[in-house]
Amino acid sequence: MIQDSTSTTVVRASVNGEDEQFAVSSGETLMETLRGAGYYGVKNGCDEGVCGACNVILGDEGVTRSCLVPAASCDGAEVMTVEGLADDDGGLHPLQSAFLEHGAAQCSYCIPGVLLASYDLLQRNDEPTESEVADGLSGNICRCTGYVQQIEAVQAAADRLSGSDASSEGSG
Ligand code: FES
Ligand code: FES
Repeated sequence: MIQDSTSTTVVRASVNGEDEQFAVSSGETLMETLRGAGYYGVKNGCDEGVCGACNVILGDEGVTRSCLVPAASCDGAEVMTVEGLADDDGGLHPLQSAFLEHGAAQCSYCIPGVLLASYDLLQRNDEPTESEVADGLSGNICRCTGYVQQIEAVQAAADRLSGSDASSEGSG
């Protein structure tokens, strides 16, 4: 981390596996930095740590509200945004496919944060119960869907990722 005389700090971090370098000002949040660099999947829903729309995966800390993280503290960090969920060819992650199939996204403003909270949950628990998914998503506010379809979608994605989804067998 390098600090210059105008209190701009240079932060180097890995974002979705790519090395990035950001000039961040004092008081700037990771959410602001990422959005300023074009990672628009990081949404500003409340700017005060309530809604989960700004979620990222922050190294070993897992899912994290980027509006609460000082950007200057992220030197050397590994960050994943929703843009990192799809594979290198742009193929949707099973979570993304399941959300589409289950009608779990309407206006979609909350969806990047919900997807990353779901991803984090499935990293820790590959077969979550309905109540465990509800718990895992409890920090994410959605004003559209009522959450039921989102919970169904996460469980469907878990089945797909574990290979127990009979409906996907033979579909290639
Ligand atoms: S914008 Fe960060 S929690 Fe709402
Ligand atoms: S889909 Fe609209 S806020 Fe969640």
